[in-house]
Amino acid sequence: MNTKGLSLNTIPPILIPLRFFLTAPFFGIFAALLILFYGPEIWTSRWLPGPLALTHLLTIGFMLMVMIGALYQFIPVMVGQLIPGGDKLVPIIHPLLIVGTLSLVSGFLLAINAFYWVALIALGMSTAVFGMSLLPLLIAKIKDHLIVFILRILLVVLIITIGFGLYMLLAYAYPNADIVFREYTDIHASWGLIGWVVLLIMAVSSQVIPMFFVTPEFSVRYLKIASLLIVMTLVGLFIMDKNLLQSDLFTLLLQVSLSLELGFVAFYILLLINQRRRKLPDVTINFFRVSLTSLLIAVLCWWLFKNDFAVPLKAFQIQFEFTMGLLLIYGLALSAIIGLLQKIVPFLIYLNLQNLSFKHPQSMMAEPKLVLNMKQIISTKQSKIQFYLHLISFILLIVSVYLSQIVFLAGFFMLCNFIWLSYCLFRGFNFYKNNKKEILTFPEMKMDFSI
Ligand code: HEM
Repeated sequence: MNTKGLSLNTIPPILIPLRFFLTAPFFGIFAALLILFYGPEIWTSRWLPGPLALTHLLTIGFMLMVMIGALYQFIPVMVGQLIPGGDKLVPIIHPLLIVGTLSLVSGFLLAINAFYWVALIALGMSTAVFGMSLLPLLIAKIKDHLIVFILRILLVVLIITIGFGLYMLLAYAYPNADIVFREYTDIHASWGLIGWVVLLIMAVSSQVIPMFFVTPEFSVRYLKIASLLIVMTLVGLFIMDKNLLQSDLFTLLLQVSLSLELGFVAFYILLLINQRRRKLPDVTINFFRVSLTSLLIAVLCWWLFKNDFAVPLKAFQIQFEFTMGLLLIYGLALSAIIGLLQKIVPFLIYLNLQNLSFKHPQSMMAEPKLVLNMKQIISTKQSKIQFYLHLISFILLIVSVYLSQIVFLAGFFMLCNFIWLSYCLFRGFNFYKNNKKEILTFPEMKMDFSI
């Protein structure tokens, strides 16, 4: 592992990030159960309650949940400063995010107004509190760290995505107000799935891949330019979408440049992954390969469907929409996030046990060792099982969009994928609790500053 330039002593109490990581897979389990409950009907139309609930169980319940936890863990290690107020604010942010997601999903599924209101308040508050707690760090003059740069842009993109989401939710919650919102759904979806997800993958990969897989460092300049270009292109497409400017040629140019930018990001990261200096096989890197390949396939699919190239494909419009959603959410985002969890949870546990054992030095002599190495916390075999469950469920989900009979099989494998993830994370947490208890039985080293 390459830990050059990291502040390994600045880590938050383990439960701050871990509670987000341990909760997130449950939303994946709910999502899989939803697919099993609806069966082939889930892929009938993207506007139905089932798909809307499914989308947000995965995007807010899983993705946003892990992102917040990962930022609480990574920002201190990367920039040497804790996110202010974590111990007081996380007990507010975390339950509000759970309540908000569950209410939003219940609102979609049961069409009960009260749920929309609860979701509006809980999601609005949790994201606002989290965003505001990040602000001091983001506006401070921290050394020019790539993650801080991308995070600044990421936060703006997330505010736009969530802003549109909350605005549309207001329309659901208050139907008498006749708020026109459907014209914003695609903007909300594309800022979320292309802006937020792609920038998140860039931020995560640029930190995690060189560190855990010992690849060459990411070029700060390339990623800064790519992230700015992606956001500027999305702004351009928004302007064209709202007919503020009318030019088919300009729209086409923007679409081509967005495809090139996304293609560049995917190829660039894949290239660095292939230049790994450590040649020992590591299955977790395959999660990132699947993630970036999904992005490339999504770009190709988009051009294929939009332009009716080889065969008339308009008849497959509904399937196209679900294919894109699955490629971007399950393929691009979830693959990278599940891969990330396989690395950062063992790292977090290892780091906490190690720091604790420094305070109780005699515990370091204990046999078997109480500070477990990362592979003992989530083993290679466990990661392999996770990877195959994820890959099989991903392929089956895509196929089930076209061949609806296999949707139950797809849902079943997706369920296994998230149950297995949950099992591995809780098992790691159990190791931590037991070994911490053992370490604490050894006498604490008192610092004696007297001369
Ligand atoms: C506070 C957070 C959020 C709220 C309140 C929210 C709310 C909504 C609402 C009300 C809709 C339905 C729009 C309609 O009926 O036309 C919607 C659609 C959608 N949202 Fe969100 N959203 C949030 C976060 C996100 C995030 C973070 C993402 C993605 C990364 C996302 C992706 C989508 C997508 C893809 C759709 C379209 C779904 C479809 O076509 O089936 N949302 N959102």
